Amino acid sequence: MTERHPFEPFRIKSVENLRITTREEREKALNEARFNIFKIPAEFVMVDLLTDSGTGAMSSEQWASLMRGDESYAGSRSFGRLAIVVDEVFGFRHFVPTHQGRASEAILMSMLVEPGDIIPNNTHFDTTSAHVLSREGIPENLLLESSKNPYSDHPFKGNIDIDALRQLLERAADTVPFCMITVTNNAGGGQPVSLANLEKLRKLCNEFSKPLFIDACRFAENAYLIQQREEDCSQLSVREIARKMFSLADGATFSAKKDAIVNIGGLLMMNDKQLFEDAKNELIMHEGFPTYGGLAGRDLDAMATGLMEGTEETYLSYRTSQVAWLYFSLKELGIPVFGPPGGHAVYVDAGQFLNHIPQPDLPAQSLAVELYLEGGVRALELGTVTLGFRIPNSDEWIHPPSELLRMAIPRRMYTQSHLQHVVDTFKVVSERKENLRGMRIVKQPLFLRHFTCEYDWVENGECLESPKQVTKEV
Ligand code: F0G
Repeated sequence: MTERHPFEPFRIKSVENLRITTREEREKALNEARFNIFKIPAEFVMVDLLTDSGTGAMSSEQWASLMRGDESYAGSRSFGRLAIVVDEVFGFRHFVPTHQGRASEAILMSMLVEPGDIIPNNTHFDTTSAHVLSREGIPENLLLESSKNPYSDHPFKGNIDIDALRQLLERAADTVPFCMITVTNNAGGGQPVSLANLEKLRKLCNEFSKPLFIDACRFAENAYLIQQREEDCSQLSVREIARKMFSLADGATFSAKKDAIVNIGGLLMMNDKQLFEDAKNELIMHEGFPTYGGLAGRDLDAMATGLMEGTEETYLSYRTSQVAWLYFSLKELGIPVFGPPGGHAVYVDAGQFLNHIPQPDLPAQSLAVELYLEGGVRALELGTVTLGFRIPNSDEWIHPPSELLRMAIPRRMYTQSHLQHVVDTFKVVSERKENLRGMRIVKQPLFLRHFTCEYDWVENGECLESPKQVTKEV
């Protein structure tokens, strides 16, 4: 083994039993789910790498924080404790809590996006993209071409293409209400954005008087990778780097289900007072009073503790090394993985791995199904199904650059032997990968289709089930 698995800087105090399932049980679950792995009951999943969002293990300190939670409707002590930590970690002038990242996005987009607006980003993740589209805006992904190559080893493949953004702003500045950047870039390999790139982005936004918002879901992992990879940053602490990142922005959306290691929670942060006032109005309409958002007081307290633990360097070193361990173990088997290893997940280039299955036949979905059948391992299609979308009022489809399968590692939850099981499963699948077949969608909703759509197999270029069931063409 090229990499050593990192020493886990915690021990287990409370366990949750896992059910060891049979292949027959898994086949049945998959058929009942119409091949959509989101619809498989979790008890039939043995290693669940569907997402790292809200799935982490809270620490004993966080559980203690839950007990400390103050459930007063207004002005709870828990909000006060969270406000101190949010100020220390992010440093924006104002914030509101929300129930999760997409609620922050919904509020931000409802305030700033008009039909026809273009919202640039390195890569929008599914929910940000859907919120822009639902307001008839256009999510514009401006990743450097070279970063789309899964095999280039550039340390900051999350960087936004500054030249392309400049061209967009020179051409259509009036239609761009603000710019966004996602750290780390979840849709593109979990790759970090460098401080240098953020600085250039800030300058460009200043030139065109555009506010800059960070999609900060995995800011701590991004800051840690900056410390490890960027010149002149190795002497800075992760918290100092995070503050530098946020000092370059006008605000941020944040899903606390990631780097704050809580099961639910989010933040919307900004410097502008008027935007804050407007956000509070929206919040009260849809989420709750501004000192609790869509959360219980105890959730605010657990988030405050989690933000400090999630930015702690021993933990971040373990976290990123665990991802690297899985990455190198699969690479050693000859599995094509998107490199270099990022912050929270390993992405398999399913289009390459199953190069006998063409893109319209969804190779990453086929691989997700096979991994589940073989080893009870659940992973996420991150290709045409999840990230492809049709531009509003047109027939033009935007396809992602690669058909990836993402294995996101929940925080502090799985041990080395769980991940070894994933590697072993890949070994078996790899040996008979030529037998894997393509799949097609036979039923889908209007937005965020991957969560609920249904699939069937493709045989001899035909889908076994005719697509007459499609609820709505999108
Ligand atoms: N932005 C990014 C980059 C995300 O990864 C997510 C969620 C969100 C926004 C929305 O946050 O789920 O709290 O509403 N990503 C999860 C994932 C679901 O699996 O990567 P949310």
